Amino acid sequence: MRILVCKDYESMSKKAAQIILSQVTLKPNSVLGLATGSTPIGMYKNLVDMYKNGVVDFSDIITFNLDEYYKLPITNDQSYHYFMQENLFNHININPANIHIPNGMADNIEKECEEYENSIKDAGGIDIQILGIGRNAHIGFNEPTTSFEKGTHLVDLTPSTIEANARFFKSEDEVPKKAITMGTGSIFKARKIVMLACGEDKADAIYNTVYGKITPKIPASILQLHDDVVLILDEAAASKLSPSDYLN
Ligand code: F6R
Repeated sequence: MRILVCKDYESMSKKAAQIILSQVTLKPNSVLGLATGSTPIGMYKNLVDMYKNGVVDFSDIITFNLDEYYKLPITNDQSYHYFMQENLFNHININPANIHIPNGMADNIEKECEEYENSIKDAGGIDIQILGIGRNAHIGFNEPTTSFEKGTHLVDLTPSTIEANARFFKSEDEVPKKAITMGTGSIFKARKIVMLACGEDKADAIYNTVYGKITPKIPASILQLHDDVVLILDEAAASKLSPSDYLN
């Protein structure tokens, strides 16, 4: 696990965008695993700027998002479909046919999950997966539990995640209680993983990800076993780590 500590959110976002830029430059038809939430917004801004400045061409990329709320229409401005259009897809030259986000409105959720896994496989697997992290160390919406889930599945959100996400809704009652998420197994299969975290409220989760016991109770701890993981942190999120473990 490589750990890059940046002085602030802006430099974290820039570094993450540079990693995607180099991935897409080296392999224009890269399969990108994407995340939503507040953390990657700055990275997406940087990518949009790079595109507008002619630095990168996204016409051949294929994307898979980690997750989507269950039974929240995609026209709802809190859906992850909406988020991705607003923050990235509307502003770059991605081919809409190459965008994949779980369909939380599907009638047959089991079939939807199976098909999502198959589409990732058919695309050749994920080259680079961007992750945020929950305060409870969830990745995607894989919440702390007793076993690692392999594939895309429907999940009950924990009270701590519902509370954390309430800031985006009018009230906590409006936050969906379930979501479809890629499993820890689907995430782990990505060839490269880039996790972003900022702010002091992520410091414990990052500490546990780096030094904790590998257990589904700390979902991100499984990343310790992956061959190619980079954590890009701001100083606050890195505040509980030993500086001797940093790359810079
Ligand atoms: C979002 C996702 C979640 C978030 C996590 C952190 O697609 O998969 O795991 O990355 O909840 O969210 P923020 O960035 O809002 O703190």
